[in-house]
Amino acid sequence: MPALPAARVPGRYRVALVCLGNICRSPTAHVVLEHRLRDAGLADRVQVASSGTGGWHVGNPMDPRAAATLSAAGYDPTRHRARQYDATWPDAYDLVLAMDETNLLDVGGRTDRVGLFRDFDPVGPGGEVPDPYYGGADGFEEVLAMVERTSDAIVAALPRALEGRA
Ligand code: 4NP
Repeated sequence: MPALPAARVPGRYRVALVCLGNICRSPTAHVVLEHRLRDAGLADRVQVASSGTGGWHVGNPMDPRAAATLSAAGYDPTRHRARQYDATWPDAYDLVLAMDETNLLDVGGRTDRVGLFRDFDPVGPGGEVPDPYYGGADGFEEVLAMVERTSDAIVAALPRALEGRA
């Protein structure tokens, strides 16, 4: 697993998660990562945001299938409202993680602070989080499993990055 980039300002960290519509994948990752951060006692130091490169769903809650998958697993999906990505995010955040290669291209491509969410997947690093929007319920389960294990790996790496170490 690559190292997380060091905090721009030691002691606080900002993570941005980006997909296409901001109603399925990046909101799922947003809810799970925040939940894990609370469990790890890092919620006051690490801020999470998510957005979509497309603007069709701005202001809307999560896709009902994504929300149902999260609720069934014990998470709260109700507070999400979709936002649209804008080009200021790579400068505003410590780390910008795209769900797939198209999202990564749309945010301007890889840099030391911009990459794929699954670069940190301990099972299959470097892959995409597949878009479940046009598929069945099992696609949402698969997304949740990827997001849970990858969020755990990110949370485990954050204390070092928070200290300002790469
Ligand atoms: P997401 O999924 O990028 O994971 O939120 C999608 C949501 C909406 C659309 C495509 C993908 N759409 O075409 O509206």
